[in-house]
Amino acid sequence: MKGLVIYKGRYGATKQYAAWIGNELGLPVASADRFPKDQVEKYDYFIIGSSVYIGKLEIRKWLKKNYKTLKNKKTFLFQVAASPVTDIEKRESYNATCVPAAILNKSKIFFLPGRMIMRNLGWFDRFMLKMGARLTKDPEERTRMLTDFNDVKKEHILPLISAVKALIKINEPEKEYV
Ligand SMILES: Cc1cc2nc3c(=O)[nH]c(=O)nc-3n(C[C@H](O)[C@H](O)[C@H](O)COP(=O)(O)O)c2cc1C
Repeated sequence: MKGLVIYKGRYGATKQYAAWIGNELGLPVASADRFPKDQVEKYDYFIIGSSVYIGKLEIRKWLKKNYKTLKNKKTFLFQVAASPVTDIEKRESYNATCVPAAILNKSKIFFLPGRMIMRNLGWFDRFMLKMGARLTKDPEERTRMLTDFNDVKKEHILPLISAVKALIKINEPEKEYV
C-alpha cells in the first residue's frame, strides 16, 4: 500500500509532526500547497495534518478540492492547535466545520498539541491574536492566549504511528511459505 503524509500549517509545528511521522513510517511527506492534484489518486492512504487558525483548519480547501479522491481512500487526520487535547469538544468542532463529513466519518482522528511563539508570528496573526484576547472575558484565558508555548514533542505521534501500522499489517498480503 502506498501512503502519503500531507500537511498544511504556518509556523512549522504541523510540518515538524509531518516530518517525524514520514520518517517513522518511511513515507513521503508533502506540503498541500505544492502537491500536484493529479498525483493524489496514486496513493492508497493519507495521513493528513493541519493546524487551526481562528477555528478553521488550514487544510480545509485542499480537502474540498480533493474530496472525490479522498472519500474512497483510507485517511488519518492529525490536528495541531493550542486548545488542550483534552478539550475534545472544541477539537472536534474544528474538524466538524472544516472536514467534509464523508471524509471525517471514516478517518482516524488524532489531536496533537501545538506551538506558538509570539515574536515569530506575522503582523496579521499577531494582530488577530491580540484582537481575540481583547474579546476574551476570562482574564486567565486572555493571558494564556498571549503567552508563548511549545508542546511539540515526538512522543505525541506514537498513537498515530501504531494506528497506521495496524492498518498496514491488516492490508498486507499473506506471506506464502513453500
Ligand atoms: C492568530 C492565531 C489564531 C489561532 N487560532 C486558534 C484557534 O482558533 N484554536 C486553537 O486551538 N488554536 C489556535 N491557534 C494556535 C495554533 O493552532 C497553534 O499555534 C499551532 O501549533 C500552529 O501550528 P503551525 O505552526 O503548524 O501553523 C491560533 C494561533 C494564532 C497565531
